[in-house]
Amino acid sequence: MKTADSLALRHDGRRLRILDQTLLPHREEWLEVPDPDAMVLHIRRLAVRGAPLIGVAAALSLATFAQDGAGPAELRLAAAHLRRARPTAVNLMWAMDRMGAILDGGRCKDDVVMAELIAEAEAIFVEDVALCEAMARQGLGLFGEGEAVLTHCNSGGLATAGIGTALGLIRRGFEAGRVTHVFVDETRPLLQGARLTAWELARLGIPHTLLTDSMAAILLREGRVQRVLLGADRVAANGDFANKVGTYGLAVQCRHHGVPFHPVAPWSTVDLACPGGDAIPIEQRDPAEVRGTWAAAGTPAFNPSFDVTPAHLVTSLVTDRGVFTAAELASGILSRPRLRPT
Ligand code: MRU
Repeated sequence: MKTADSLALRHDGRRLRILDQTLLPHREEWLEVPDPDAMVLHIRRLAVRGAPLIGVAAALSLATFAQDGAGPAELRLAAAHLRRARPTAVNLMWAMDRMGAILDGGRCKDDVVMAELIAEAEAIFVEDVALCEAMARQGLGLFGEGEAVLTHCNSGGLATAGIGTALGLIRRGFEAGRVTHVFVDETRPLLQGARLTAWELARLGIPHTLLTDSMAAILLREGRVQRVLLGADRVAANGDFANKVGTYGLAVQCRHHGVPFHPVAPWSTVDLACPGGDAIPIEQRDPAEVRGTWAAAGTPAFNPSFDVTPAHLVTSLVTDRGVFTAAELASGILSRPRLRPT
């Protein structure tokens, strides 16, 4: 296997390692992932996270397992486990379907299957890097001069193999002088904004301010934010999309205050088999994440990890294949053949 190196994932040709994102920003600890079962656990506990990255990580873990000598039956089982590690981000299923197509391809020699699995995982990694740059190119024209933007959760290099989705576009916008400041929602309950996005922005030297999620409305009302950009975990065929819980509320606030609102997602996040937001499976996580250390033990708590934003609240969806307005999404543009791969 070729080497792969990103902010949160490293492959030296033999071993796969992940940056344990649960320890950021205080500790940067790399963990070796010996097999797909270990990767499933790391995905579930969000040591590796972010829609595109979990697909890339799962593919690399399966390819490494093949390289270590796993046979087709073991690989099929591992792919099925990885596919079910988390339910909402479709990139995981998309990556496992690509790997599964090779396993189901009927080739009789194990070494041929292994070589193809490795090549496919490498391609998924390299493509994700390119998709990030393509989204940034597509979306750059949205910015005016010197904008302050607001983002939610983490959609940067920690969530992808490349520069990120929304945060990648924000980064390129900053480099082009069009974005001057980033407001960062802390993103309750697991604080991906406070722990991860703020860490990435500090590393990049991009001026930023952290706020609790409930403070965003003040900035929108006072006209201190020109645009909200965030990622997506699954975009349905009609443009409805799931993203980190809190996104829907932010979309409603943006509409109320007339602030442009843009999800940014690669085509690997678009699920044309899913007709609308109601069909997106939403991960429910441990109520203890909401209780934290401050609520009384056993307090009943609600903890959907994602919410669904209807397409009519979107100003435009930025993808690597184009930028689509709410009207275009409503017309079914995502399903048009010209947007499909050639
Ligand atoms: O639970 P997480 O941390 O995996 O949630 C991540 C998000 O919701 C991101 O916004 C999303 O994956 C899209 S950005 C790459």
